[in-house]
Amino acid sequence: MSIIRYSVYLSIMCSVLACNGEKVDKVQAGVSYQTLADSLHIVLASDRKAYEDIIFDRLGRVERVLLPHTNWKEEKTVPFPSQFFAEASQLTEEMGAKFSYVLISKYPLNKQNKPITEEEKRALDFVYSNPKKNYYGEEIIGKQTYFTAAYAETAYARPCVTCHNNHDKASKYDYSTGHVIGAIFLRIPMES
Ligand code: HEC
Repeated sequence: MSIIRYSVYLSIMCSVLACNGEKVDKVQAGVSYQTLADSLHIVLASDRKAYEDIIFDRLGRVERVLLPHTNWKEEKTVPFPSQFFAEASQLTEEMGAKFSYVLISKYPLNKQNKPITEEEKRALDFVYSNPKKNYYGEEIIGKQTYFTAAYAETAYARPCVTCHNNHDKASKYDYSTGHVIGAIFLRIPMES
């Protein structure tokens, strides 16, 4: 069974069984909000990892031809993966996508990546305590209800740990491999 077919199957099973007692949305028009969020997350996380492996890590840490810099435009070099992610998120919005996404952390190196809404804070609390589980919830902004989802961003490689612990903007210095550094947070408008 392909991954997509499997996740559709899983989400239908989840809506019937209410997986682990966690909040599960209704199946709507064949695809649930949860399946949609999970699928979007796979695309976002793969794009982020592709940039990290092909550009950031290879040209920076391995070949040392382009060292990343926060002011990458002025310094004529490459951005950090989180900056690349934020640029893509803004473009997605400008291109008219109905959903939106951000990278957030409890201890961000860039304070713009702090959680803003109560729902973002709740989602972060959840993934920090349950790194292997995804968070699903709902949030009302203005008159619109959003399906929300958050996915842990863990320090899967040594450079994540070294750089985040030693950065001059760091407020947490004891990350180890496998620790949660932040989360990808998604918002999808729900139809009433
Ligand atoms: C060489 C340094 C470096 C490495 C390696 C690195 N990061 Fe970062 N990371 C940064 C910087 C700098 C920022 C903030 C950039 C910005 O938005 O201005 C950041 C931002 C982030 C954020 C958003 C929250 C925040 O701190 O602002 C997350 C989540 C994150 N990184 C996770 C990771 C993960 C996971 C890895 C490993 C796969 C990793 N980083 C590797 C330097 C690094």
